[in-house]
Amino acid sequence: MNILILGSGGREHALAWKLARSRKISRIFIGPGNAGTSSVGTNLVIDPEDFKGVKKAVIENSINMVVVGPEAPLVEGIHDFFLSDEHLKNIPVIGPKKSAARLEGSKDFAKVFLSRHKIPTAAYKSFDAGTLKEVVPFLRTLKPPYVIKADGLAAGKGVVIIDNISEAGKEVRDMLGGKFGDAGKKVVIEQFLKGIELSVFVITDGKSYKLLPEAKDYKRIGAGDTGLNTGGMGAVSPVPFASPEFMKKVRERIIDPTMKGLSDDGIIYKGFLFFGLINVEGDPFVIEYNARLGDPESEVIIPRIKSDLFELIEGVAMENLSERNFETDSGFVTTVMLVSGGYPEHYEKGKEIHGLEQTKECVVFHSGTKISDNKVVTSGGRVLAVSSMGTTMKESLNGSYANARLLSFEKMYFRPDIGFDL
Ligand code: AMP
Ligand code: GLY
Repeated sequence: MNILILGSGGREHALAWKLARSRKISRIFIGPGNAGTSSVGTNLVIDPEDFKGVKKAVIENSINMVVVGPEAPLVEGIHDFFLSDEHLKNIPVIGPKKSAARLEGSKDFAKVFLSRHKIPTAAYKSFDAGTLKEVVPFLRTLKPPYVIKADGLAAGKGVVIIDNISEAGKEVRDMLGGKFGDAGKKVVIEQFLKGIELSVFVITDGKSYKLLPEAKDYKRIGAGDTGLNTGGMGAVSPVPFASPEFMKKVRERIIDPTMKGLSDDGIIYKGFLFFGLINVEGDPFVIEYNARLGDPESEVIIPRIKSDLFELIEGVAMENLSERNFETDSGFVTTVMLVSGGYPEHYEKGKEIHGLEQTKECVVFHSGTKISDNKVVTSGGRVLAVSSMGTTMKESLNGSYANARLLSFEKMYFRPDIGFDL
């Protein structure tokens, strides 16, 4: 079995690192991958959104299965592209078809789905250019802060939370006016929910699902959850407040109704499904769906999977997931993201990374790195995710931070307080 993982971040490095341990896999390819993935597989120079380029690489390298890491190719229909191609139709794609990836690709679609299936979520209303006049009257019915979301994919920047009602109105006009291009043709305004967030993941073959370890992500750039939103600055798993009692509510009120809703709507979902939840005084609400695994959540949940991850992936492809073995480790894994100075705003790339050979008792997953002149250099805002295991959260955080301090590149920054609130 030759497998191709599409993407280039820490999530894809974690997937490749784990799948490299599977006896059923002969070769792992990552497209385009990064410096880290080249140590566990073969990087291919392809753009996951260029389906014809992906097809060429799949045929040239005799690839038998494709795991899609990021959302964009899924939302653009890579799975449907494979199914409609004579040469590719028998090569399983792990990731939902376009119609199912809309759960992430359109916030309005997700909200309509959640409401139709009575799944707990924030009250909302959607607007477009034709209903602009109704925006301010609707905002007046809500209490601040106001949560404003561009409907489509906006590179993680499409959600804005604003205290002032007139600024909120202006933000909606800016989004509808093209601030995020077509992604803002519709805008969702929703009730602000106060609570602590949690990322819950399942893998499903469209018939049954397996609940993967949960995680908590730290999205803000600054200590104490301050400053701008990022792709994620660190993560921990398990999450102490995700008690058996809370997770029972998550399954009964959220996961099971979502699975039933997909089936009732005639949507066959195959792949990973990510529930972005918020715990409001002990009750879970859906903030968002994502059609993929999270990053940096993958860097803590994948190391907690004890059994062969390929068993689950193959179970999705063969639609017999319920028969597959799946075991997790009860210990803690935490990750600390090392980022380029200036991220999530302007930052420089091409900085040489030092200390990779000194780290121990941890796994350093690469997010934004590449090899240049035989050196590992930075190539993105998020650069390395330092993951450590421990029997307690404190022990694993000590491991992540001790190793983070052995690594360096010019203007490197990391949050000093991952796990502070748990
Ligand atoms: P999203 O891209 O939908 O995950 O939103 C980005 C972030 O905005 C989330 O991780 C939350 O921190 C926050 N957020 C989104 N929706 C709400 C809401 N209804 N209430 C409070 N915070 C929210
Ligand atoms: N860490 C959040 C995400 O992957 O969307």
